[in-house]
Amino acid sequence: MMKTLAPLLIAVLPTSSLWAAETKPPLTAEQREQRAEFNYKMFCRGCHGPAGEGEKAVPHMNGFVGHFLKFEAGRNYLVQVPGSANAALNDEQLTEALNWIVMNISGDSLPENFKPYTVEEVAKLRQEPLFEAFEFRKKLLNDMLQKGIIKELPAQPLK
Ligand code: HEC
Repeated sequence: MMKTLAPLLIAVLPTSSLWAAETKPPLTAEQREQRAEFNYKMFCRGCHGPAGEGEKAVPHMNGFVGHFLKFEAGRNYLVQVPGSANAALNDEQLTEALNWIVMNISGDSLPENFKPYTVEEVAKLRQEPLFEAFEFRKKLLNDMLQKGIIKELPAQPLK
């Protein structure tokens, strides 16, 4: 009996595990949100603070970060800033974390027509991280002023 079954089992096992890998269900929206929040806590909160309040050289994101989404260079910046682009998260996880940040931390600054980042967009942009992020940010803030997105420069961070 054993002798006759053994080859059969060997033949069946690899296909069944392949089947299992292929049919692993995709994460639900809720699971993605939980993973994003977890990753924010693990990889971003140490510098950015629980509510995105930042400190010292780390910008104040709460109630403000959504302004960057009102023009293309700003939208790209949120992905290309080193904390995002170089994060130890895969493209899918970084996309979720960024969408989580802008949707939970932007407050009133989130534009009504905000379209969530896509994995393709994030994967492409993060390949070109910024080196002089702080200087670039200053330039973006001046662009925001000129475009009338903000009326005055934020007080923090001072650098
Ligand atoms: C070691 C500290 C540190 C960590 C960890 C960190 N950041 Fe940052 N982050 C900064 C600093 C500092 C800036 C300001 C730009 C600069 O100088 O790089 C910034 C800016 C940003 C900005 C732009 C906000 C703005 O107002 O300019 C985003 C978006 C961002 N980080 C996302 C993330 C994400 C997502 C993570 C976690 C995956 C993360 N950061 C982890 C320090 C950090």
